[in-house]
Order: sequence, then C-alpha cells, then structure tokens
Amino acid sequence: MTVWYNVGMKTLIAPSILSADFADMGNEVKNMSDVGADWIHVDVMDGVFVPNLTFGFKMIKDLRPLSQLFFDVHLMINQPKRYVKRFVESGADLVSFHYEAEEDIDGTIEVIKSAGCQCGLAINPDTDVQKIAPFISKLDLILIMTVFPGFGGQKFIDGSLERIGTAARLRDKYAKNAVVEVDGGVTTLNAKSIVKNGANVLVAGNAVFGAADRAQAIRELRGE
Ligand code: DX5
Ligand code: ZN
Repeated sequence: MTVWYNVGMKTLIAPSILSADFADMGNEVKNMSDVGADWIHVDVMDGVFVPNLTFGFKMIKDLRPLSQLFFDVHLMINQPKRYVKRFVESGADLVSFHYEAEEDIDGTIEVIKSAGCQCGLAINPDTDVQKIAPFISKLDLILIMTVFPGFGGQKFIDGSLERIGTAARLRDKYAKNAVVEVDGGVTTLNAKSIVKNGANVLVAGNAVFGAADRAQAIRELRGE
C-alpha cells in the first residue's frame, strides 16, 4: 500500500535515490522498505534546467514493481508539461515540477491531475514563495528547495526556515490538505527545526544513503 499524508500524521521521510548506488538501484529501492522509509523521492534531471543528468521514464517503470512505497517524482526539467503524463504512466504516485521551468503551470497541474496522479509544485531557493500562492489550492504538495537543485550532499541554505514557514502558512490559507515537503541539505541535526517551521515531508539523500545505519537515520530524521 502506498502512503499518502493525512493531517496529524508523523513526519514522512522520503529518501532520494539520487544518493543511492545507481549500479544497484533495484536493491537500493527494495532496501528502503526494510529501513522504514515512507516514500521514495525520485530526482529526474535533464541537464538543462539543472547542470546534471539522472534518468527518466524507463528507470521509474522498472523500479515500480520492486516497491510498495509511494513514488514521489521530482522533475527538474524544462517545459515539464510535455512529459508529465508519461511520468504518471511510468508509475509516479505524485509528480512535482518547477515553477521556474514552465509557463503553463495551470495546464501542467491539469494534465497531472487528470491522469489520476497527485501534483506538487517546486520552487528554487531564490524564488519568492508568494509567487506560488495562486496555484496552491490545486496542489497536493508544495516543494521548498533548500539547496539549488542539481546535486545531493549540499548544505542547507541559511534563511530557508523562514521560507518553509511562509509555505506552511500559505498552505493553511489555501489548501489545508496539501503538504509541505523540504528538499536539500536535510540532516539529523536540522530536521527538528525544519519540522517545527511547518514541514510535513523531509527529503533526505545523503542523510539516509550515506548513513552507517539507515534505519536509525530515518528514525532520527522523524524525531523518534
Ligand atoms: C537536489 C535534489 C535532492 C537531493 C537531496 O537537486 O532535488 O532531492 O537529492 O540530497 P541531499 O539530501 O543529500 O541534500
Ligand atoms: Zn529532489
């Protein structure tokens, strides 16, 4: 069973497979259930919107049968409207795309929702959080980037806690059921303050895949 967030639930942890061993991806994804992950965060990069490349539809389609966990697909690609339906068909449970990468935001949300998928909107650290206010009522998730997208293992940008708080307040105003997800530089040391400022879902690449004990890292990120 895939897990979606319900109000009042514990903080969800979404390990990013960007930090997994790409040569052993199937086992890495299977391992996420064993160590107590809630979601799998799947970073898709096109080498244009961000200066890095990862993978696309086929990887998601081939990983899909290996896990029951919720597939949280984060598209870091230009003009995502062209491709979102194919990501849904490949097995995404939720597709997030970037505010900065698409002119037709309403149209892209519509394609994702009408394909029967949940939808998130991501914003870069230098985009004013208020800019996404007009779209929030249609969203299931607001993705606040706390590093510039492209690479795992970067440092959480100072000042991001305030942005998370702003996103949480906008959510409370426009879409009570939407969740706030935080992505980039999340560690067992800063997780508590991120959650305190309103985050519901924590993406963690290095903090989980780089941990000697992944299960313990996930428990600590969750504040257990
Ligand atoms: C960055 C990606 C993140 C990244 C997070 O472009 O969107 O999901 O994998 O990695 P950590 O948690 O190591 O910062
Ligand atoms: Zn991501």
